[in-house]
Amino acid sequence: MKPIIVANWKMQFTSEKTLETTKKLLELFKEEKIDPQKIEIIICPSFAALPQAAQLLKNKGIKLGAQDCFWEEKGAFTGEASPSDLKEMGADYVILGHSERRENLAETDEMIHKKIKAALLAKLIPILCVGETFDERQKGVKDYKIINQVTKALEGTEIKPGEQIIVAYEPVWVIGSGQAVAPEEAHYTAKVIEQRIIDLIGFSLTKEASSFIYGGSVDEKNIKDFVTGEISGALVGSASLDPDQFVKLIKSIL
Ligand code: 13P
Repeated sequence: MKPIIVANWKMQFTSEKTLETTKKLLELFKEEKIDPQKIEIIICPSFAALPQAAQLLKNKGIKLGAQDCFWEEKGAFTGEASPSDLKEMGADYVILGHSERRENLAETDEMIHKKIKAALLAKLIPILCVGETFDERQKGVKDYKIINQVTKALEGTEIKPGEQIIVAYEPVWVIGSGQAVAPEEAHYTAKVIEQRIIDLIGFSLTKEASSFIYGGSVDEKNIKDFVTGEISGALVGSASLDPDQFVKLIKSIL
């Protein structure tokens, strides 16, 4: 399986800066001979920049992702974006349940569950984010929290042949801190998540249709320790904002 590297640009760039950064990245990928056949690179800009970013990325082998979607396709839902609209704009992936949305917008596991179903229906690949807060970790409930998030997001979701789902373990307390968790911890957690998914959808479907990535202060120095074995890739925030740094990060696992 190809490694998966997701750049989550959050709300860090204006549309103009998104285009400038995307152009620079494409130049660097060419210069450094980064072959999209060997690695799945997914760029997730803000909603506003998606159509223009899609134009730039067309036929370049680099994929586009959105940072969220709504759970309905159409209707009186002011301010929301429908999964098929995102697909039509050129997105193939959608990040769901990011801790910043769970925290700032009070997104619940039930909402995330509905979004996953809607995303799959629109042929978007969901990137489900799960992870514990520092407080939950101190209380010793980390695994319980993650198993619960995975269960509530996926229980009752039918994964049809050809559909994919990516689960990202992002410990909330290390996001943006510059200090990732120990790689052993991330690998152990990937196993915990995998076991829960096997219980929910069965062994062969889990192996066929799901992958696990790690996110939280990933950079060009530590990525190699994460992206190996049961962890297929990384969800990168800060280290994806600077094209030179992001390309170094990608090169260090090729
Ligand atoms: P950082 O890489 O800045 O820690 O962000 C991780 C993240 O939240 C990606 O979704």
